Amino acid sequence: MYKTHSCGELRTSHVGQTITVAGWVHRRRDHGGVIFMDLRDRYGLIQVVFNPDLPKETLDELASIRFEWVLQITGLVHKRPEGMENPKMATGEVEIIAKEVKILNPAKTLPMMVSDDTDLPDENVRLKYRYLDLRREKMTQNMILRHRVIKFMRDYMDKNGFIEIETPILFKATPEGARDYLVPSRLYPGYFYALPQSPQQLKQLLMVAGMDRYFQIARCFRDEDLRGDRQPEFTQLDLEMSFVHRDDVLAMVEGLYNEMIPAVAPHKKLLSNPWPKLSYTEVINKYGSDKPDLRFGMELHDLTEIFKQTDFRVFQSALEAGGVIKCIVAPDSANMTRREVDELTESAKGFGAKGLATLAVTTDGLKGTAAKFVKAEEVEEVKKLTGAKEGDLILIAADQRTVVNKVLGGLRLIFRDKLELADPNMMAFAWIVDFPFFAWNEEEQKWESEHHPFTMPKMEDLPKFDTNPGEVLSDAYDMVCNGYEMASGSIRIHRRDIQLKMFQMLGLTDEDIQAKFGHMLEAFEYGAPPHGGMAPGIDRLVMLLADEPNIREVIAFPKNQAGRDVMADAPSAVEEKQLKELHIRIVE
Ligand code: AMO
Ligand code: AMP
Repeated sequence: MYKTHSCGELRTSHVGQTITVAGWVHRRRDHGGVIFMDLRDRYGLIQVVFNPDLPKETLDELASIRFEWVLQITGLVHKRPEGMENPKMATGEVEIIAKEVKILNPAKTLPMMVSDDTDLPDENVRLKYRYLDLRREKMTQNMILRHRVIKFMRDYMDKNGFIEIETPILFKATPEGARDYLVPSRLYPGYFYALPQSPQQLKQLLMVAGMDRYFQIARCFRDEDLRGDRQPEFTQLDLEMSFVHRDDVLAMVEGLYNEMIPAVAPHKKLLSNPWPKLSYTEVINKYGSDKPDLRFGMELHDLTEIFKQTDFRVFQSALEAGGVIKCIVAPDSANMTRREVDELTESAKGFGAKGLATLAVTTDGLKGTAAKFVKAEEVEEVKKLTGAKEGDLILIAADQRTVVNKVLGGLRLIFRDKLELADPNMMAFAWIVDFPFFAWNEEEQKWESEHHPFTMPKMEDLPKFDTNPGEVLSDAYDMVCNGYEMASGSIRIHRRDIQLKMFQMLGLTDEDIQAKFGHMLEAFEYGAPPHGGMAPGIDRLVMLLADEPNIREVIAFPKNQAGRDVMADAPSAVEEKQLKELHIRIVE
């Protein structure tokens, strides 16, 4: 070993020992002959003191040392003089009096500071030099937290009888609603593997194989539009169980999170234990979202009844078109300026609204864009229903139900951030259940599966498959937390007849079904057990636990927002020879 101790572990108990440490120069200060350096490794920082009585060669060498040079230092651990302790450093009571210093490797001037978070460069610079960015304390801690989360998951699953099984990366298209990444086959010209969007089919086949309880820390690949909480490759805790009902799966995962969070992120609080189970319809109506942030109120209220006889033309026309009128009440926001209200209206339009009506309950009476169009008794009823009081701003949207929910759900989150209504240390977990089975694709005029095509419908809804598919509910569930979808899962179809029917409903031809999913249908003919499972996203969980605004901060080497690896410069061109071998020609 190049060292006897790590920089971060030194304490007063080491005083008097001669030790060797190795690490990076984090800071240096020259004080009239005496040089102070903070040396850093993954475990922390230690102050090293170089006195002027060191040999001349050493002193000459010291003069050249800059930030981030890699040094090996041997010296005496010394208690810092009275009043010189640094309570901000874990090692702040001691320092090393250097006897020998060896330069293991110099460093060029860095393209970014790693000792200080205040002057971070553009994210693309951080990603280009990710190996430097990861030296930063916060990023190192994020990686350690991610490790702890995954370690906890593995131990918990093991304790509960799950076995970890690896499944192939070179596989066949597994639909999860995104585009596939394809890998051309050299041996079979014109044929392709697909990278798995999830191990969904394979974990079900492991249930057919009798594995009973499977899990995997699984990488998934999806070619979709990127966002802060989406990467083209990401990691799930993928799990599947045989002979279980919905609540067995939920209890297993809820138990994991309730044990894990206090252990890995003790500063986080759980809003409720046990977690609430809310129906899809309920949360859409109440929060305008199927991934509600439950840390604060500001629920949506339905005003359709109240405005049945309205004189307000905007409301009338929405109702005539079969729409609804709903509102949210923003606390203490009646005095918002004209400009602020205009900005909100623009945001509402961004969510799909045609406009936004406001009623401000002020000391000087009712104000706002809808004030002169509404009757006094209507206002009274709105106040009674919503509890709006003086100082509040009522924001009303009138349109088709899905539009209204989306608009008010979006505005609710804008107020969350603006008024700081949600406790950042609170984790508000909930299960969302009773999802619709099908979603109607207006563009393509066909039914699609709301979850994925292997999800079981509620058995009692099977007869509605042919008559009114829109009313069929599924045995799918989501885990949500603080406005994010954290996990998805379902009880699966394990009967061939139902699975076949499902593929047919999705508009697949018999040939398609055979070519794409023949292996699944066949497996179901050889004694498939009832089974179900789910897949919590690990990146999103670590992001929330680390208080980071996007998942790139908790992934060692993520793609940038344009889907590029700017460090290695990928994707990139390949040699003509490679293309030839793969029987591929680039068409401009
Ligand atoms: P689903 O597609 O909902 O379900 O994904 C499950 C969870 O994975 C996370 N996630 C993502 N994280 C980062 N970047 C992405 N692009 C991304 N996409 C999804 C989310 C999400 O809740 N096979 C099913 C699970 C099952 O039924 O067992 C599936 O993959 O946290
Ligand atoms: P107008 O008569 O079109 O100027 O609209 C009067 C007010 O109603 C304005 O404040 C609009 O922003 C608002 N408004 C327009 N359309 C809607 C809608 N669909 N829902 C709620 N308010 C709306």
